[in-house]
Amino acid sequence: MSQIAIDGPAGAGKSTIARRVAAQMGYIYVDTGAMYRAMALFMLREGVELSDEAAVAAASERAEITIRHEGGEQVVVLNGEPVNGLIRTEEVSKAASAVSVYPPVRARLLTLQRRLGEENDVVMDGRDIGTVVLPKAECKIFLTASAAVRAHRRYLELTGRGEEADEAQILKDIEARDAQDSTRAVAPLKQAEDATLVDTSELSIEEVTETILNICRGR
Ligand code: DC
Repeated sequence: MSQIAIDGPAGAGKSTIARRVAAQMGYIYVDTGAMYRAMALFMLREGVELSDEAAVAAASERAEITIRHEGGEQVVVLNGEPVNGLIRTEEVSKAASAVSVYPPVRARLLTLQRRLGEENDVVMDGRDIGTVVLPKAECKIFLTASAAVRAHRRYLELTGRGEEADEAQILKDIEARDAQDSTRAVAPLKQAEDATLVDTSELSIEEVTETILNICRGR
């Protein structure tokens, strides 16, 4: 099976770009962050103390997370319930970053992610796809952008939806999440040695998509 791995920090544009690359290549798009988000939603609902590794690990055994594809879109299913509409809040973002630190949580989701990559042609995005999940992927991209650009994009997204947003606070949250995701002991956010770095700060979505297709086609 063909595998394209796209990693990078929050707000670099991974999901938008990965979705487009998948459509162009005729592969399925697998958003691994959504799986961590579903796990986080489960912990929040169960009232599990997120700083308690043993409690999170024990509870994670009761969270059955699967995905299916509907009209090209990935639907994340948590214990039988589709949860796409519930996992994009700031509360879930923070909780996902917190629970993703724990090895037992990662091990559970890793099995599902690897299987998806073995059974399908995939564009998979996350933090550790090129380094841990699909180390043999034939094309690996590390997508990045400056923290200020990423914060500004998020600000535009929120205000575009009519929500209130404080750009300085968003920047602080992004920097905190980057630090947490990059410094954890297991599978930290890191560019794989054989990944190509693409900085999206000054590029449009179309330009980034083209750049990646040019890098990955013919590999
Ligand atoms: O990509 P995202 O913002 O939806 O990811 C949510 C959190 O999940 C992120 O803070 C780190 C974690 N994550 C991870 O540890 N490994 C992945 N492959 C994907 C996400």
